[in-house]
Parts: sequence; structure tokens; C-alpha cells
Amino acid sequence: MKAIVLNRKLAEGIESVDISLPVLPSDEVRIEVKSASLNHRDEWCRQGKYANLKDGIILGSDASGIVVEVGQDVDPKWIGKEVIINPASDWGANPDVQSKEFKIMGMPEHGTLAEFVQVKSNRLHSKPDHLDWDEAAALPLGGVTAYRALFQQGNIQAKDQVLVTGFGGGVAQFGVQFALSLGAKVFVSSSNDDKIQKALELGCSGGFNYTNEKWTEKAMSECGGFDLIMDSAMGDTLNNLIKVTKPAGRIVFYGATRGNSTGFESRRVFWNQVKLIGSTMGNDSDFENMLNFVKENKIVPLIDRVFDFEGAVQAFDRMKEGKQMGKIVIKIS
Ligand SMILES: NC(=O)c1ccc[n+]([C@@H]2O[C@H](COP(=O)([O-])OP(=O)(O)OC[C@H]3O[C@@H](n4cnc5c(N)ncnc54)[C@H](OP(=O)(O)O)[C@@H]3O)[C@@H](O)[C@H]2O)c1
Repeated sequence: MKAIVLNRKLAEGIESVDISLPVLPSDEVRIEVKSASLNHRDEWCRQGKYANLKDGIILGSDASGIVVEVGQDVDPKWIGKEVIINPASDWGANPDVQSKEFKIMGMPEHGTLAEFVQVKSNRLHSKPDHLDWDEAAALPLGGVTAYRALFQQGNIQAKDQVLVTGFGGGVAQFGVQFALSLGAKVFVSSSNDDKIQKALELGCSGGFNYTNEKWTEKAMSECGGFDLIMDSAMGDTLNNLIKVTKPAGRIVFYGATRGNSTGFESRRVFWNQVKLIGSTMGNDSDFENMLNFVKENKIVPLIDRVFDFEGAVQAFDRMKEGKQMGKIVIKIS
């Protein structure tokens, strides 16, 4: 089967290879992949900035497809079913934090950027009927990350005024859609005015270009700050987020694209009783709750662009350059 694997010896960092189909263990199913989508972790892997990297591993955490074979211990009713995959496994017993065994498909174990992928049957979920193959492939990792960040960790309420930073991001666009569906008043930040315009068309109440140094003043004068902020940039933007958080507000962050924060404004945090909360992907109930929420509210992932298999390097480059508005999808078959 053809697959996209990590190869850090190449300038591109990835390559398309032909590998033989692995033997199917008794508790797994084989899926013919229709579409796969990228997450920033795939690009971090390509750049060598992820833990436990191994060349030759198939990248990718998200896919939609059809079950074509089941192991001997798996119910054969799965054969022919249209599915998506929960890419996380071994969360463990504590719903508040993942175990040491927690892992995500696509590194250090094989992922979804291949003609076939095999997973344990308990990672399967039916593809939501209202989504096509590309949209369904865009959902799992970004969807569960945004869901846990907002609902579980951020305790979002319909009365909240919410800021989702970096709206162009694959996770962020879910955050915006989920918060809007709940009925919250939602604002975005972005480096790109066209992306802000897209957020307004979706129903957001405002947007701020974070490359403008005065965006925090504009935000405060337009809406008086936020009860809840969802962010994955961190770095030196954290102090700006603290400035625009209402007293007793929450900042949930699930990434650190801009690295660690320097000059942390601790006084403003303790005086204003601000809660700074970390979040990582989600446990199995977060995933199920996210899927139900997406189905009930007929949420459709925003897809930036669909590349064909041969365009994988261009797809990764687009993510590296931050040009995307939403999810980048690779059509596999
Ligand atoms: N903890 C977890 O479980 C988890 C899960 C998923 C992702 N992540 C992490 O979260 C981050 C985003 O992931 P993704 O897959 O959504 O990536 P992505 O699709 O590549 O999106 C990244 C977005 O970050 C925004 N951004 C960059 N610099 C920013 C800044 N200074 N302020 C505000 N926004 C900024 C940009 O938005 P604009 O284009 O609008 O400017 C960009 O589009 C990555 O660091 C990733 O590793 C963590």
C-alpha cells in the first residue's frame, strides 16, 4: 500500500513509499482510507520537534474510511461500515488527566496517511451522516481537542463572552463553531483579515488582528474582555490574553505554537482571580460527547483545501506557512 512516512534525511522530511500490508491482529480492523487530515503535530514531526520520533512511521492521526477486514475476535458486522477513528488510546482511568500510556496515532505508532490503516475495534465510530469523507476526516483530533478545552476544562456557558485565538487553525475553527452552537458570544483573533471576515460570516460578534499591537485595546473598548479564552499560541501572547480576560475569567490553552511565555504577568492573574488551564486532546467520553454535539448541531468542519496523495508535501508546507483557514485534507482513495 502507498503511505506517507517520516524521513528526516530528506529536505522535505516526508516521502511517499510502498509498504506491504501488516498482518491484522485478532482485536483490530483494517480500514480502507478515503480521506485523511493534517494536524499541526504532523508538521511538528516533520520538523523534528516531537517526542519519540522514528523515521519510517506513517504520519497522520485523522481519517475516514470503510472497514474492509476484521480480526478474528471482532464482530464481523463492522465490515462495510463507514467509519472515523478516535486517534487516541490508553487515556487511563482518571478522566481528569491521561495516563503515561496515552498515545496518539501517527507517532510513535503508524497513522492514517496511507491506503489502509488498522486500529483496535474500540477506536471505531460511525461516520456522522451529515459529513462527506473529507469533512469526516477533518473531525476527530481537532474536534475532541476543542471540545475538551471548551466544555470540560473551560466549563463554557451560553452566557459567556468567548475569544478563540488564531481562528485559521484546525482546532480553533471547531472551538468557534462549538461555542457559537452553544449560544455563546464569540470573538476571534487572527493574523489575517479575510479569516476574521469568515468568522463574522459564521456568526462571530467581532475579530481582532493579533499582528496589530493595539488589538487588546480594541478588544477591551469593543466588548470589555472575555469570560473564556481558548488559545494554542501561548509564547509572548499570553500577557495580551491576560489583559483581555475579565476578572474571574478562564484561559484554556492546548498548545504552545509560539513557545514558552516570558515575563508572565503574575500580579494581574492573582489579583483578577484568573484561571489558567491546560488541556490535551480528550478521553473516550469527551470524544463521544463531541461526536454527539457535532451530530446534534450539524456542525461541518471548515476545510481549507483538499490535496491529492501526490500533493502531500505541498499540504504540509501550507500548514507550516500558516496559510490555512481550517483543516487541510488529503484525499487517499
Ligand atoms: N494538546 C493537544 O492535545 C493538542 C491538540 C491539537 C493541537 N495542539 C497544538 O495546538 C496548536 C494548533 O494546532 P492546529 O492543529 O490547530 O494547528 P494549525 O491548523 O496549524 O493552526 C495554527 C494556527 O495558530 C494560529 N497562530 C499562530 N500564531 C499565533 C499567535 N501569535 N496568536 C494567535 N494565534 C496564532 C494561526 O492562526 P491564524 O492563521 O488565524 O493567524 C494558525 O493558523 C499546535 O501547537 C498543536 O501542536 C495540541
